[in-house]
Amino acid sequence: MRPLQWRGETIVTTPTRNLALELVRVTEAAALAAGRFMGRGDKTAADRAAVEAMRFMLASVPMDGVVVIGEGEKDEAPMLYNGERVGTGDPPPVDIAVDPIDGTRPLATGNLNAISTVAIAPRGTMFDPGPFVYMNKIAVGPDAKGKVDITAPVEANLRAIARAKGGRVEDLTVIILDRPRHEELIAQVRRLRARIRLIPDGDVAAALMTAWPEAGIDVLLGIGGTPEGVLAACALRAMGGEIQGRLVARTADELRRGREMGFEFDRTLTMDDLAASDDVCFAATGITDGELLRGVKYSGGGATTDSLVVRGLSGTVRQVRAIHRLEKLNRISPIPY
Ligand code: FBP
Repeated sequence: MRPLQWRGETIVTTPTRNLALELVRVTEAAALAAGRFMGRGDKTAADRAAVEAMRFMLASVPMDGVVVIGEGEKDEAPMLYNGERVGTGDPPPVDIAVDPIDGTRPLATGNLNAISTVAIAPRGTMFDPGPFVYMNKIAVGPDAKGKVDITAPVEANLRAIARAKGGRVEDLTVIILDRPRHEELIAQVRRLRARIRLIPDGDVAAALMTAWPEAGIDVLLGIGGTPEGVLAACALRAMGGEIQGRLVARTADELRRGREMGFEFDRTLTMDDLAASDDVCFAATGITDGELLRGVKYSGGGATTDSLVVRGLSGTVRQVRAIHRLEKLNRISPIPY
């Protein structure tokens, strides 16, 4: 790159390329392909369409990517498997996390908050959870960053968040995955008289809502997917929020295997463990409507998508509303829009 001049001075720190702007084309393509499956009751077909579209578009992104958070091991996932190389192969070397559909169930039943997401970070800076699928999480937005501790009682965390926001615990809205494993957590939050939003699925969107004032969510609590936790960490790192996690073993055998592999189940995973660099890029596109993003709408040979594009270095959060001409796209792309 030629050195840039600013008021007669040569600028050393030049504006660098924002790969998040390339990633949004990837999540848009996956959302457009998956959106056709809304309410059709076929999670597998929806997932296949989103994965195919995402992988095809990722090939055009100028990066040397390795999938750290993907669709699983190579023998179970033919595309976007963990360890797969994606992108053009040019620098920068990056780790990549994908979730072509977070919320396959709500998509298949035509319900809220299914999104498509991708994050990238410099090589070696993203947490690799291996085969361990569950993580206990607490996520908050910028107001309460640095004020919570996942090992503290729920009451202490809610009081700290309320204090940071200048309000009362009763004013807070806590978002929790609606699962039997959260019965006691939900009872505790109810006893403290905070408000609760129980969601059937989609805790990536839920974590992001804590950093999105219009969503009206103050904190995410509870156990969800580890891959989803890493994606949320990338986004919250860029948006100025915070997520902490602790790996959860489903069985004694899983705990033993994890320990043998060097995973620490008794340690809090901080932002620095989950997404260690500020140089993260994140994009998400709505597939079905939600508090965070509107879903894909199709009409008259076109479609609209609604996305968030976030870059850690600058902290800029962009909302991208795109109008797609599907008849044109279908002429230049093999993805069946
Ligand atoms: P998928 O759409 O990828 O299946 O994930 C949906 C989801 O709700 C995640 O957002 C969440 O982290 C995870 O599933 C929770 O797992 P479980 O449904 O096993 O409780």
